[in-house]
Amino acid sequence: MTDLFQGPKGTRDFLPSAMAVRRYIEDAWRRVSTRYGFQEVDGPTFESLELYKVKSGDEIVSQLFSFTDRGGRDLALRPEFTPTVARMVAQLGGGLPKPIKWFAIPRCYRAEQPQKGRLREFIQWNVDFIGDSSLAADRECLSVCAALLFEMGLTADDFNISWNHRDLMAELLVGLGIRTDKLPDTFYVLDRLQKLNDSERDKLLVSREFLSSEQELLGLFASEMSKPKAEQLELNKRLSAPQVRDTYEKIMQLQDQLALPELAYNFQWDIGLVRGLAYYTGFVFEVADARGENRAVAGGGRYDKLIEILGGKPTPAVGFGMGDVVLEILLSERGLLPVKPLGGPDVFIINASENAGLTGLWASRLRRSTFDHERKITVQSGLRVEHSYKASKNIGKLLQEAAHSHARFALILAPDELERNVVKWRDMQSRTEIEWPVHQAETLIRAACGQTGG
Ligand code: HAM
Repeated sequence: MTDLFQGPKGTRDFLPSAMAVRRYIEDAWRRVSTRYGFQEVDGPTFESLELYKVKSGDEIVSQLFSFTDRGGRDLALRPEFTPTVARMVAQLGGGLPKPIKWFAIPRCYRAEQPQKGRLREFIQWNVDFIGDSSLAADRECLSVCAALLFEMGLTADDFNISWNHRDLMAELLVGLGIRTDKLPDTFYVLDRLQKLNDSERDKLLVSREFLSSEQELLGLFASEMSKPKAEQLELNKRLSAPQVRDTYEKIMQLQDQLALPELAYNFQWDIGLVRGLAYYTGFVFEVADARGENRAVAGGGRYDKLIEILGGKPTPAVGFGMGDVVLEILLSERGLLPVKPLGGPDVFIINASENAGLTGLWASRLRRSTFDHERKITVQSGLRVEHSYKASKNIGKLLQEAAHSHARFALILAPDELERNVVKWRDMQSRTEIEWPVHQAETLIRAACGQTGG
């Protein structure tokens, strides 16, 4: 006997209940983006391999699913969306009015070791604010990101946002004694510091040929970063030294300028925040579960040079990405996923009459939409209607079926009532029933289901 086929490692099957949760998250992403004036875009699922090699950084390149097509072109499944956004803007030249405010909800692929919060195929909400180098654009990105988390029922106690600034961080590190040519290596090491144990860290520092004074500084970072802010005494002492005081003050000013009122206390500068992607230029940020139990929920920052590097005009840009996997874990752990299954029918038709054809008649009548040919849009969409496929006329049994389907209402077509030209309308939650004249029923049903008409 052959083994059953398994889905590929790190991928998911979305059965209806999982699909409903995915749609719930995606709907919230769309709602919040459009509320802030971002427009939806998308691009290809695969791009040329080179696009990711240019400026995304070693880590992500090592996680690419890449292949060669029949024409010998090297391609890769997209591990993220930012290079696609930058390519699209570069190709358009200066053609679009600025700022460009785009969002996208692509499926992304990374050959990571699957673990809690990290898969090989995931969905990532991207929000990008292009053509504006001001702090207002950085703040807007932070605000959209936080608005989504609040929209889903999380509070400021549930998550922390840490931020840093690549250029100021570089200035600070040089002031503290890191050689300028060692900055890329230093960023690389800082990004890994908290993920390594002491001996792995020492090995990495030696292999990257740091001087002993640099090793000592990075070692200090590693030990202080794991402590609460108030206990980082040695680090604070170094940061108040004359050669870095000005830079540190600039950082503290930025902290005040970036902090939004709704994120007053859970928004912190973090000297250890580097972000793995190589295209970031200035402000970077990451959102984490306040209980520290999950991988980052979202991350982003400024990438002011990427569009130019890809052949476009110099164009500043800032944005972030949020994955569905960690967000769903976070919502589920906080008990914030909808209790009732989503997407049940509006109406379940129960036909206990002798006329079996009535079921189909009512179903198609209620499912029908109204199209406005002048405006070329659907002005009234059909209702979600279900019915039993069994021949039973037992109203009690059919009501059980209606309850299983999670219908909001049941339309009951029973012989006695039909004789009097009425139908019964039952609210499945409150279990209350009323009678409606047959000739008014469709209008009343649509109104009860929340339709106001064209
Ligand atoms: P990133 O930090 O690599 O940034 O990813 C952003 C978010 O995507 C993460 O915080 C996480 O929620 C999710 N994510 C990343 N990898 C995985 C994975 N293997 N499985 C599940 N979720 C994952 C970027 O991708 C940037 N391109 C974001 C950006 C947009 N920067 C500017 N604009």
